[in-house]
Amino acid sequence: MDIKFLKRNIFQRILGLPITSAPIDPTCWSYADSKLTLDLNKVPELKQAGGAIRLEGKNLPERILVFFGEDGKYYVFRNRCSHVGHRRLDPVPGTNTIQCCSISKSTYNFDGDKIYGPAPHPVIRYNTTVDGDKLTATIS
Ligand code: FES
Repeated sequence: MDIKFLKRNIFQRILGLPITSAPIDPTCWSYADSKLTLDLNKVPELKQAGGAIRLEGKNLPERILVFFGEDGKYYVFRNRCSHVGHRRLDPVPGTNTIQCCSISKSTYNFDGDKIYGPAPHPVIRYNTTVDGDKLTATIS
């Protein structure tokens, strides 16, 4: 499998700046009892295939990456590369992969398995369900 790399400059890579942003509407999500709940009506970023947001703070136990894949499915990952820098991840358009924003560019498939780079372990993908406009993921 050919690996496609996101176009990032060296400073973005050194600083570990991801492409994926926080949601425009910070009220689109909540977290309680190990459940992340997202109101998809409030997340225009996820309307298009390849769209993504990152969730951090509030009472979340982990940084989270949410994206709408080109296969028409929603994905929720722990947003933490397993390599030593533990940088954030971005989806790579047209490849069904996610990639670390750091210099070493560890890349994972949608099962979370590493397919490129120095990362020693998979990344965690959380079970996700969609009911109407509500996306729920169990963060364990
Ligand atoms: S932190 Fe991801 S490759 Fe180093």
